[in-house]
Amino acid sequence: MSGESTNHVSRETPASVSRETGVGSGGPTRGADPYGYSPMTTDDTPIGAAAQRASQVLHPSGVSLPKPKHRRVLTIANQKGGVGKTTTAVNLAAALAIQGLSVLVVDLDPQGNASTALGAEHTSGTPSSYELLLGEIAAVDAIQKNPKNPRLMCIPATIDLAGAEIELVSMVAREGRLKTALSDSALDELDLDFVLIDCPPSLGLLTVNAMVAASEVLIPIQCEYYALEGVGQLLRNIELVQAHLNPALHVSTVILTMYDGRTKLADQVADEVRSHFGGAVLKSVIPRSVKVSEAPGYGMTVLDYDPGSRGAMSYLDAGREMAARDASERAGTEVSGA
Ligand SMILES: Nc1ncnc2c1ncn2[C@@H]1O[C@H](COP(=O)(O)OP(=O)(O)O)[C@@H](O)[C@H]1O
Ligand SMILES: [Mg+2]
Repeated sequence: MSGESTNHVSRETPASVSRETGVGSGGPTRGADPYGYSPMTTDDTPIGAAAQRASQVLHPSGVSLPKPKHRRVLTIANQKGGVGKTTTAVNLAAALAIQGLSVLVVDLDPQGNASTALGAEHTSGTPSSYELLLGEIAAVDAIQKNPKNPRLMCIPATIDLAGAEIELVSMVAREGRLKTALSDSALDELDLDFVLIDCPPSLGLLTVNAMVAASEVLIPIQCEYYALEGVGQLLRNIELVQAHLNPALHVSTVILTMYDGRTKLADQVADEVRSHFGGAVLKSVIPRSVKVSEAPGYGMTVLDYDPGSRGAMSYLDAGREMAARDASERAGTEVSGA
């Protein structure tokens, strides 16, 4: 299929994307966009353009992101609630998966909102992150594949997880239980490219488990008043985990969420965050969008709910940027190591 005309986006184009047709390896060359999205010229009306974008998102002929060299495990953390952690976890995961990568979302918030948005069963008793932390089941036994995209997987959280914060306290190796569960060689069969761990809005043992299991931290920051409130505490905790439990841990990515371009405040916050975190901040900013907030109500990511929306496009961009960064960081490392 990769030989078919790159200008043609047909309904027959398979949603599954060949890994071999990725960027830098003879991938699509249409227009200026290296990922093959054609410029919006066929229809200049907003609805027409949205429909065209949706079609390109859902039928990404030949679009594929570079596979990371090693599985990347990211903890999505910010102890402030409502900043877009869960929204970012599920939509970024969907964006990476729709562009050809295999992604697992581990829901570590007892509220189970990520599980809901990914359409994963999460009633009490469903094999979940709770049993995983207790060491009762293997990760593969808790994984549910997204009905629309089998490359998008989820280990759900049930309400049972609410007690785990306390139950874990008396357990052996209480901080490293998720890491152990995720390093199970059974996971290798799934050939995962990304694991995104959605944390609860606290800095307790669940979040510490996530930080020990990951090497990267992704911090979503809402473009609002007090955006950086609590971030200092988060960074100190990351340093503590780094010093005592996981030397590899670092803040690799910061993503600005709920950006409202009509307000000066949003720009001020964005500038402040960029001056604080520099290159870790993704250029792609997630706009405040009703579609993004409506999607979970239908058990969907925004990429399924409204693929042509600005929210969906911004998460697609963020996913591409993240995947490309890994590639360039690797190139940088290789150059400096040579
Ligand atoms: N880009 C966005 N535009 C509009 N609403 C958003 C956006 N991102 C998140 N929300 C909404 O904000 C609320 C909090 O987001 P959520 O991802 O659950 O935050 P957290 O996981 O950090 O608590 C949710 O109701 C969600 O639907
Ligand atoms: Mg959440």
